[in-house]
Amino acid sequence: MMIEKNIEIENKSTEAKNIVLEIKDLYKSFGDNHVLNGFNMQLHKGENLVIMGKSGSGKSVMIKCLVGLMEADSGLIRVMNKDITQLTREALDILRADIGFLFQGSALYDSMTVRENLEFPLRRHTKKFGKNIDTEKLIIEALENVGLAHTLDLMPSELSGGMKRRVALARTLILQPKIILYDEPTSGLDPITAKEIIILMEEIQNKYGTSSLIITHDVDCARVISDRMILLIDGTDYAVGTFKELSASKDPKVMAFFKQ
Ligand SMILES: Nc1ncnc2c1ncn2[C@@H]1O[C@H](COP(=O)(O)OP(=O)(O)OP(=O)(O)O)[C@@H](O)[C@H]1O
Ligand SMILES: [Mg+2]
Repeated sequence: MMIEKNIEIENKSTEAKNIVLEIKDLYKSFGDNHVLNGFNMQLHKGENLVIMGKSGSGKSVMIKCLVGLMEADSGLIRVMNKDITQLTREALDILRADIGFLFQGSALYDSMTVRENLEFPLRRHTKKFGKNIDTEKLIIEALENVGLAHTLDLMPSELSGGMKRRVALARTLILQPKIILYDEPTSGLDPITAKEIIILMEEIQNKYGTSSLIITHDVDCARVISDRMILLIDGTDYAVGTFKELSASKDPKVMAFFKQ
């Protein structure tokens, strides 16, 4: 009896160690618009977790609360076992350097070259790498990772949509984040380019062992990349499971996502 209990406790603590992001009972409203109504999520180390939800269901709001760009009304948000609401600005900044955020769209700075776009996060997070870093080397390596080393001196306006997305990904990767948050990484891209981005995301995950939270509408993207999925419906984590499990569900609200 005693032994069984100990094993149980040990299992629980190992599990806790492997959770890199956690949201518990998250609420967020804008006036009468109750967007998040008790949303829960756990991202495990090395996992690709996909969150799907209809347009306007609160996916971007959730991810913004997660990185502290937006304040939640209530709920717990833990990043690598730290409650982000309890952290000082400085501690939060250090933690942020470990989280890469690929914004919806690419959000490159239009007036800066590709090189300058990639230099920007390095200058913001000098603490992580120290002052004597070889900026040029890091920039080239990050661009090589996405197959765009030749675009160093181009302006964003000279790049295609898919290339912009890849440069944005390089800009996220340059800080060598432990966790990457992707907000609609394939939206607005043609299916072939979308596939290329998905392959790239997989390569990066394999190369660096990052944990990823991926927000997407794209059922193909979810099928290929997800280890686990959460469907965000009515402001809650309505359904949680593997792609296989959820796509076999008989719940009409869940089925609606997989009808093509
Ligand atoms: N800053 C804000 N002020 C007021 N309302 C907001 C704000 N940001 C988002 N909302 C509202 O919150 C709801 C959820 O928005 P959100 O951007 O999270 O949707 P989404 O699930 O990301 O949709 P999409 O798939 O289109 O990107 C929407 O009704 C939106 O109008
Ligand atoms: Mg969104």
